[in-house]
Amino acid sequence: MGDWNSDTAEWYAENYGDYPTNRLAVDELDLLRDAIIVDIGCGTGSALRHASSRVSDGLIIGIDPVSRMIEIAREQTVDHPGSDRIEYRQGTAEKIPIEDDSSDFVFAFDSLDHWGDKEKGFGEIHRILRPDGKLVIVKDGSVPGASTACKALVDEIQKFNFNVLNQQQVSAEGVTFTMWTCVAV
Ligand SMILES: C[S@@+](CC[C@H](N)C(=O)[O-])C[C@H]1O[C@@H](n2cnc3c(N)ncnc32)[C@H](O)[C@@H]1O
Repeated sequence: MGDWNSDTAEWYAENYGDYPTNRLAVDELDLLRDAIIVDIGCGTGSALRHASSRVSDGLIIGIDPVSRMIEIAREQTVDHPGSDRIEYRQGTAEKIPIEDDSSDFVFAFDSLDHWGDKEKGFGEIHRILRPDGKLVIVKDGSVPGASTACKALVDEIQKFNFNVLNQQQVSAEGVTFTMWTCVAV
């Protein structure tokens, strides 16, 4: 988990806790009402809360290694209308506390760069995704910066046995980010 700890969790929650990429990226996705979604490196749980109104009969599970981050996510979720469909579990991308073949979507929103071991992380995602499940990666970045980063990331995604179904860049509300929707090869 690199430099992430209680202090950085507080700092992140204060400055970026509801960063617009979370809602904007979720809005782009075709989420079924009964979807099971796992958000790896969920931070304060912003993406989960946004997804919960669309997933009225499903379950959204946030995973983060930092116990203080999980506490903050729970505090921010307890009074949310979708809280009955949201769970948080402490864990890492490299060891995801989720059963095999259980997930329709796995989100990695601005979390990939923080994983200690990408090979293990992608391996874990292969393990928990259902055969038709989708991995959605989001990376914050300006348009010129994103284009170099895009190619490197697509190479990395393919190296770990995922195909990119869709790559899109979104600019709104003062942020620009790229998102990749991927399926297992
Ligand atoms: C930049 S924040 C992004 C949070 C949230 N997804 C968002 O977009 O607002 C990165 C998150 O990744 C988490 N993280 C750090 N190491 C990780 C690991 N090995 N596996 C999964 N998440 C990790 C951090 O604790 C932090 O919450």
